Amino acid sequence: MSANRLPLAGVLGWPIAHSRSPRLHRHWLARYGIEGDYITLGVEPRDFEAAFRALPLLGFRGVNVTIPHKETVLRLATKVSDRAALIGAANTITFREDGSIYADNTDGYGFLENLRAGAAGWKASEGPALVLGAGGASRAIISALLSDGAPEIRLANRTRSRAEFLAGEFGGRVKVVDWLHIEDALDGVATVVNTTSLGMTGQPPLQISLKRAPKTALVNDIVYSPLMTPLLEEAQSRRMRWVDGIGMLLHQGRPGFEAWFGVAPEVDADLRAAVLAE
Ligand code: ATR
Repeated sequence: MSANRLPLAGVLGWPIAHSRSPRLHRHWLARYGIEGDYITLGVEPRDFEAAFRALPLLGFRGVNVTIPHKETVLRLATKVSDRAALIGAANTITFREDGSIYADNTDGYGFLENLRAGAAGWKASEGPALVLGAGGASRAIISALLSDGAPEIRLANRTRSRAEFLAGEFGGRVKVVDWLHIEDALDGVATVVNTTSLGMTGQPPLQISLKRAPKTALVNDIVYSPLMTPLLEEAQSRRMRWVDGIGMLLHQGRPGFEAWFGVAPEVDADLRAAVLAE
């Protein structure tokens, strides 16, 4: 690493064309007057290790990694945060001055910060959470909810065996509920989260009635394209509290930006608009 070079960061994935992370980090670079760049790097799985190992030599302070590299990268790290180890995947890598490679997972942090920022006073410990979906996003979110004190997670997934596998990783606090009778699992919940791709542009809507949920429950969808998903429309029509999904992306980027560029960046309306712009 050399002080004479512009600090660089970026995102590695395959395919990668649609990542919004460059907009996020470039907005912050401009806002804080930092001369540096954040670059999109399409890297195929077979080239990942060679490309990754070259990054510090090229001036990269760190990178985000996304699908399909989030698990592979753990092998190449010299230090893995507890939350990344627990989830078995990392999204934020820092190449430190001493040559070490630190792998962290900030997805759960981004999820919690988004809910805290969007619904003042919300805490996972308020009551049970219903989580829909059992993919990688769900794993990070369940882990975050449990670490924030959720007393119980009810987990529903179209493919029940995937939900059972995931629940097994977390022990007794995660209970699998039936995908075809999701509404039965709404009694007494404090939080409802959609982590499936249902409701995303081009996908079928998530059709669920929130009638049986307490009026005080907080509803969140990690889908942010469109921002106002069918699930959030349903929450709004029942005058429930809801938080959209874009903030999870914005907040998950903060620890990386701070580690790479030395400024703790703010999430605000300007950033939201910049990242959402067509
Ligand atoms: P991610 O890493 O973003 O969580 P993923 O691992 O592909 O992505 O998981 C996608 C989630 O959306 C899964 O829970 C998936 O359900 P299955 O495990 O049954 O595949 C869910 N999902 C995707 N399309 C769906 C659909 N049409 N109906 C119900 N669930 C769907």
